[in-house]
Amino acid sequence: MEGPIRLERVVAPKTFAIRTFGCQMNEHDSERLAGLMVADGLIPVASGEEPDVVIFNTCTIRENADLKLYSALGQLKAQKENHPEMQIAVGGCMAQKDRGEILERAGWVDVVFGTHNLNSAPALLRRARSEGPLVEILDAPDPEASRDMAPALYAVRELEFAAWMTIQTGCDNTCAYCIVPAVRGAEISRPLADLVREAEMLAKAGVSEITVLGQNVNSYGRDITKRGPLFAELLRELGAISGIERIRFTSPHPKDLRPETIEAMAEIDAVCPQLHLPLQSGSNRVLRAMRRGYSAERYMERLAAARDAISDLAVTTDIIVGFPGESDVEFNESLEVIASAEFDSAYTFIFSPRSGTRAAEMVEDFVDDDVVKERFERLKQVLDRSALAKHRQRVGQREEVLVEGPSRRNDQMLSGRTRQGKLVHFASPTEPLRAGSLAMVDITYAAPYHLLGELSSVVRPPRHKLRIPLLSS
Ligand code: 5AD
Ligand code: SF4
Repeated sequence: MEGPIRLERVVAPKTFAIRTFGCQMNEHDSERLAGLMVADGLIPVASGEEPDVVIFNTCTIRENADLKLYSALGQLKAQKENHPEMQIAVGGCMAQKDRGEILERAGWVDVVFGTHNLNSAPALLRRARSEGPLVEILDAPDPEASRDMAPALYAVRELEFAAWMTIQTGCDNTCAYCIVPAVRGAEISRPLADLVREAEMLAKAGVSEITVLGQNVNSYGRDITKRGPLFAELLRELGAISGIERIRFTSPHPKDLRPETIEAMAEIDAVCPQLHLPLQSGSNRVLRAMRRGYSAERYMERLAAARDAISDLAVTTDIIVGFPGESDVEFNESLEVIASAEFDSAYTFIFSPRSGTRAAEMVEDFVDDDVVKERFERLKQVLDRSALAKHRQRVGQREEVLVEGPSRRNDQMLSGRTRQGKLVHFASPTEPLRAGSLAMVDITYAAPYHLLGELSSVVRPPRHKLRIPLLSS
C-alpha cells in the first residue's frame, strides 16, 4: 500500500521549568542547565502550563533566599500530589550547603545536586525516575566537566547576542559575612585557552557582548600559573576576537584591582567603561571587621586611578548595611565616603547572618532592625541622588546602544544598553530595529534607573541569525 508517509509524535516530550534565585553566575548556570535539558529531549514549558520537571537553582547568600526556596517547595507539594509524574530538583548553592537536609525538610523532592555537578542534573533526573530520590553533591569541580564546552554551546540565553562566561569558581577570600567560600569552595580558574575557545564559539554564533563572571575576577589565573593573575591577559585575548564588541566583567575585588587591569580596560576598545567595585562599607573599622583587606582611602585611590585612566567610566558598587557593631558614627562615615565616590548605581543589602561565617557569631553586636531600616533608607537616598546626578550628565550626549527589544512597559519604545551599561528607552522607528542591532541614540532625559533618548542613526543590524522556532509555544 502506497501513500504519504505520516510523521506522528508518539510521545509528547516532557516539559521543564527552571526557577533561579541569586546572582548572575546562577542565572548563567540556569541557562546552561536549560540547554542540557533541551539536549536531553525536554522542552521549556509554555507559560501558564504545569511543567513535568521543576528545577530550583538556589542561592544562600542571605537568609531570605533559603526561606523563599522552602516556601516555593511547599507550594509545589500539592501540585505534585495531583501530578505524581512531576519531578522536582534542587540545585545550586543552598543544595551544596544543605545537601540531604533538603530531602528531610521536603520529602517530595526527587533530586538534589550541587554547584559542581550541574552537568549531571539531566542524568540524575532520569535515574531518579526508576531509583527514587537522589542526592549527589561533589566537593570540588570535576576539571573534565568544567572543560566541557557543550553547556556553553547549548545554553538557552535570554538575549541571543549577549552571553555570560564563567571564568572562575569559588573564592579564596575570607570576608567575615560571606558564605560563598564555604559553599563554592576554593578559587578555581578555567584554562585561558578554553575561555578563548568558548568566546570564539559565541562570537561565531553571533554574540557581540560577553560578561565575564567570577567571585574575584582580578585573581583569575592565580591558581593555574606562577606568573600571577592573568585577568588583564584574558581581557586582551577576548578583546582581539572578531565580533566581540563589548566585554564587561563582575566582580573585581578592590584589594586586587591591579594597574594592569585598569590599563587593559583603558586600552582595549571592546572592554566597556563600566566597573563594578564592591565597597561594602566606607568605615575603616567596619572594613577591618569585615576583613576586606583595604581602607576607604585605598578604595578611593584605586577608584580615582581607574577614573583617570578610563574616560567616562561608570562605577557601581555593593553596600552592606548593619554589619555587626556598625555604629551611627561609622554609618555616617560610610555615607560620606559613598557620597564622595559618586556611584552610578549600587546594590544595597541588609546584613544577614549566615551560619558558619565569622560575622554570624558576633550576635551581641547585631544592630537593631529599626536602626538598620532607617540607615537603609538614608543610604538609598544618597545613592539615588548620585545616580540621578550621574545620569543627568549624560543628557545631550550621543551614545551607542545595543538594542534589547521592545520596552517592557511600552511596546512603542525600544530598550537597550549603552556602553556604560545604562538602560535607555527610545521611540521605535516605523521599521522597528531588531534586538541585537547597534544604534546611536541622543540622550534627552535622565531618571535614577534609566535614560530616555531619540534614535539618531543605526550603526549595524543584528549579527546573530534569526532562529526559526520549531515548536510553537
Ligand atoms: N549579608 C548581606 N549581604 C551580603 N552579601 C554577601 N554576604 C552577605 C550577607 N551575609 C552581599 C555583598 C556582596 C553581594 C554579592 O552580596 O555586598 O558583594
Ligand atoms: Fe564573598 Fe568576599 Fe569572596 Fe566576595 S570576595 S565572594 S564577598 S568572600
